[in-house]
Amino acid sequence: MKYTKLGNSELNVSRICMGCMGFGDAGRGQHSWTIDEEHTREIIKRGLELGLNFYDTAIAYQSGTSEQYVGRALRDFAKREDVVVATKFLPRTQAEIEQGISGQQHIENMVNTSLQNLGMDYVDLYIYHMWDWQTPIEDIMDGLNRIVKAGKARYIGISNCFAWQMQIAKANALADKEGFATFISIQGHYNLIFREEEREMVPYCQEENIALTPYSALASGRLSRLPGEGGTRRAKEDAYAKFKYDATAAQDNVIIARVAELAEKYGVTMTEISLAWLLTKVTSPVVGATKLHHIEGAANAVDLELTPEDILYLEEPYVPHPLAGVMAQNKPAAAKEKHVWSTGDQKIRK
Ligand SMILES: NC(=O)c1ccc[n+]([C@@H]2O[C@H](COP(=O)([O-])OP(=O)(O)OC[C@H]3O[C@@H](n4cnc5c(N)ncnc54)[C@H](OP(=O)(O)O)[C@@H]3O)[C@@H](O)[C@H]2O)c1
Repeated sequence: MKYTKLGNSELNVSRICMGCMGFGDAGRGQHSWTIDEEHTREIIKRGLELGLNFYDTAIAYQSGTSEQYVGRALRDFAKREDVVVATKFLPRTQAEIEQGISGQQHIENMVNTSLQNLGMDYVDLYIYHMWDWQTPIEDIMDGLNRIVKAGKARYIGISNCFAWQMQIAKANALADKEGFATFISIQGHYNLIFREEEREMVPYCQEENIALTPYSALASGRLSRLPGEGGTRRAKEDAYAKFKYDATAAQDNVIIARVAELAEKYGVTMTEISLAWLLTKVTSPVVGATKLHHIEGAANAVDLELTPEDILYLEEPYVPHPLAGVMAQNKPAAAKEKHVWSTGDQKIRK
């Protein structure tokens, strides 16, 4: 495994981050295809053996059970100081707004619940999962700064946002002015068949040394196999991934075919080609696994070097895509609507 600094932080992370959205109680959340605790533990154990020290979960994943499984496995198989644990919090709900719970109080409740789920007294990276259109950014940055000062999070990151929200809506500028903690990483949706981050976010982050830790690095499996080869439970049941990728499948398949061609040329898997490409652009891609061998494939990608010609060949057929997933749904006009993301049936700590 190779390691690198996470942006302007002291965190030393593996070049592959283990995405933990596929771990958790399948009966308690957005995804019916998640794997149970026993299989989660096998994958995390293998990840640690392969040198992965960076783990990404969220309070929203399967009513907190992803955090619980990950926390227990890391406690049993690793030393706390040897791993970098990231989790995420959601925007305030309508019910919280009606009850007068402030942005600061909301963040404190969220982090306390996540720490209880994880069985830890701090997280290394606390991520603002998606923009909260109903809470002033001053309250968010102040709330996050308080939890950093309280030692509950070492650093803060952000996910699913536009560059203008980080910069022009002055999140980091405001934090700088007030002496608050600033966002050191961005977890956006970025892979070979969805490259909209390259318009503004990638150059912005390069300029500011903010770490890019993109999610759905394999387009939820589409960049790991040829179309029609899936047949996995997730491929059949992951309606949200279908929403993200089905509309553009015809044009994306041209790129996927080129991934397969290069995989054959180098005698490696498609996963390795897809991640080797992303590794030329970002700090540490967040990669999901539902089987033991998945994480081995991801770890191997770190050692594969593509030539400039390979990179050009993979990139050449891309055409701009409409926004998909959270970025398509989390619009100001839809802020009060019920969405697929939620904390589920878990009890939020005060
Ligand atoms: N911030 C956000 O809003 C957000 C949103 C989505 C995800 N995430 C994070 O990003 C992580 C990854 O996202 P993701 O699961 O959507 O996408 P992904 O990493 O693009 O895809 C993971 C899927 O790819 C397939 N796969 C992985 N390795 C493979 C291998 N070596 N060989 C064959 N197939 C392989 C598996 O599909 P099968 O299960 O079908 O075999 C696996 O479930 C999540 O766990 C989560 O931590 C964050």
